[in-house]
Amino acid sequence: MNISIVGVGHVGLVTAAVLADYGHTVMGLDDDAAKLEALRSGDVPFFEPGLQELVDRVTADGSLAFTGDLARAVDHAEVVFVCVGTPGLPGGGPDLRFIERVAVEVAQHATRDVVLVEKSTVPANTGARLTQVIEREQQRRGSDAAAVHVASNPEFLREGVAVKDTAEPDRIVYGTASDLARERLREVYAPMVAAVGCPVVETDVPTAELIKHASNAFLATRLSFINAVANVCDKVGADIELVAQGMGHDARIGHAFLQAGIGYGGSCFPKDVDAFLHLSRSVGYDFGLLDEVRQINAGQRQVVLDKLRDELWHLTDKTIAILGAAFKPGTDDLREAPAIYLAEALLEEGVTVRMYDPVALGGVATALPDVKLFDDPLVACRGAHAVVIATEWEQIRSLDLSELKAALGYPIVIDGRNCLDGRAAMDAGLHYHGIGRGHLRS
Ligand code: UGA
Repeated sequence: MNISIVGVGHVGLVTAAVLADYGHTVMGLDDDAAKLEALRSGDVPFFEPGLQELVDRVTADGSLAFTGDLARAVDHAEVVFVCVGTPGLPGGGPDLRFIERVAVEVAQHATRDVVLVEKSTVPANTGARLTQVIEREQQRRGSDAAAVHVASNPEFLREGVAVKDTAEPDRIVYGTASDLARERLREVYAPMVAAVGCPVVETDVPTAELIKHASNAFLATRLSFINAVANVCDKVGADIELVAQGMGHDARIGHAFLQAGIGYGGSCFPKDVDAFLHLSRSVGYDFGLLDEVRQINAGQRQVVLDKLRDELWHLTDKTIAILGAAFKPGTDDLREAPAIYLAEALLEEGVTVRMYDPVALGGVATALPDVKLFDDPLVACRGAHAVVIATEWEQIRSLDLSELKAALGYPIVIDGRNCLDGRAAMDAGLHYHGIGRGHLRS
């Protein structure tokens, strides 16, 4: 099929490359000239394992090309996926200007039937709004207007494993309001379904939108739940990992997403929880559970600060090393990263903050110029009053504990990701604190 992808950021570029690899002819559109220039000269402008090789392959065989010209992208396509950003607004809802503009422009330029698919994460009812916007534009255009069929096809990829998640999804969900849209989306995904055998959930448009909201909100709730349990484990001398294991063996609960720690970050969960809460309130239902989910998540950073204060009394004029900046391993993404919040809070208290990350230091230099950056974790720890682990990179998990002890000024470790062997750390003479590893102190 001929497909266009509007917005070649993380979701858009991965989707474009994977669909091209499944045999479609894909055009990626973006209005960011620098990004387009990079892509045209063969560079993927962000870090995502395996994506550069995939983009190289599908651009070399001509199945993926890039343009800055929307009319050309619309002219090319039977299906247009919209993957533009929906950044959060101060009031909690997402900024939908970009997605609205794309719908208007597609309606202006369409010369034959086209399916317009929302892939950006948007509030349930965006499909209805887009249809309204498109109808207005078509009325303005008059009789030469072509039909634009709105559909929703949420994505469930995780950064860091985005190529695999997209090429071999657990499930495909799309919501449509016409036979033509449903048939075309079946055709888009037919090669993937044949290769992977994943289930397909076909729905109407608002139901597909709700599936995305509910999935991310549920996962975030799971994380805040396990983090709250971890905080109790700390107080009663229990071991959160064994608690999670014991719970996870119940087939109704399962093991995934029960890793307690410093809290979730990234461009999705924080924004999506806010957006779902905002949406539910705007339609007259107060989904207060989600308020609690956000508060527990923000509180996890405070848990780390409290543990530092327990060990060091006040923090002013102390030196703290933070190992890991990215919101999780496998990405250089710093959006809503717990490490960044923590560094900001420490800087505000007059702490000298040192930071190590294998790939994300460039972004830290821009976001927090006062943080001292190190490309070696042990050098970052040298002489520090304490170290906090904020991202469980392999380079950090595999640190030699005696070398870590020797490097630190005071042997204090707050493991915000429970990624070190706590018992071994204590045997090596470190004052080790995990999250919910109260059993180590009892
Ligand atoms: C998340 C969802 O997992 C994807 O399914 C979804 O498509 C995506 O948001 C999106 O809406 O675009 P992502 O933000 O890339 O993906 O990252 P995750 O791997 O889900 O991790 C999110 C955060 O939760 C990270 O900060 C991670 O450290 C934390 N986490 C995850 C935990 O603290 N414990 C866990 O057990 C798992």
